[in-house]
Amino acid sequence: MPPAASPRPESTASSASLLAERSTAPSGDPVFVAQGVTRVFRSGATEVHALRGIDLELYAGEFVVLLGPSGSGKSTLLNILGGLDVPTSGSVRFRDHDLTTWDDAALTHYRREHVGFVFQFYNLMPTLTARENVAVVTDIARDPMSPEEALRRVGLGEHLDRFPAELSGGEQQRVAIARSIAKRPDVLLCDEPTGALDVKTGITVLEVIERLNRELGTTTVIITHNAVIAAMADRVITLSDGRIASHQRNPARASAASLVW
Ligand SMILES: Nc1ncnc2c1ncn2[C@@H]1O[C@H](COP(=O)(O)OP(=O)(O)O)[C@@H](O)[C@H]1O
Ligand SMILES: [Mg+2]
Repeated sequence: MPPAASPRPESTASSASLLAERSTAPSGDPVFVAQGVTRVFRSGATEVHALRGIDLELYAGEFVVLLGPSGSGKSTLLNILGGLDVPTSGSVRFRDHDLTTWDDAALTHYRREHVGFVFQFYNLMPTLTARENVAVVTDIARDPMSPEEALRRVGLGEHLDRFPAELSGGEQQRVAIARSIAKRPDVLLCDEPTGALDVKTGITVLEVIERLNRELGTTTVIITHNAVIAAMADRVITLSDGRIASHQRNPARASAASLVW
């Protein structure tokens, strides 16, 4: 739990409207609480302040879009939440744990058990079939779904034995999504998942992510610089120059299929 002094983003709402909000939006204790997170990259004499003090809470089952121009710190923030990077200062709590106190081995364990990552480029093993690419993860996870179930959930039940080169870009991204959700992660972190795809294919991929969030209840964060995608989210957090520039709750989520850009 965060200290009581930490104001929640929606703390300006009256308690009645807060309750109304909570009945349609995910609730309970936050899965993540970031406080005062900074990240400075140093190379020689130069310093890049990628994050300049981020306070953030993410709740179970939420669908959050992280918006902002290139260089605003989106990937840095996502990498810190996912245990790929550590802040220069500040704290990040995942449930009852402070990620910033963990060593590399603990962070590796955390990523393996709790975090699903999806990147712009799919990072599939070209010599392995779709099923085998997912099995790379399910073989080492504690309570995974089967590769077949994961691939069925992304609509690729018919393509289990195809190699990446035999799949379209959108299908390859769906294999990557199947691989990341097969371990039943607590959080799915997607960094520009549609960045390499045409609009129609991008929407298909977003529909898959939307459905998994609904069916599995996985807390989901999508990074994008495409403001249209923000309509899909429960909440939209906009970064600018390493800070949270705005923070908005959508009254209703738009379906991925309804998006146009
Ligand atoms: N490993 C790194 N070393 C040095 N600078 C970095 C590194 N990663 C990111 N940065 C810098 O930090 C800033 C934020 O980057 P990033 O989080 O990737 O932004 P975004 O994902 O919003 O495009 C940028 O100025 C970027 O050049
Ligand atoms: Mg980025």
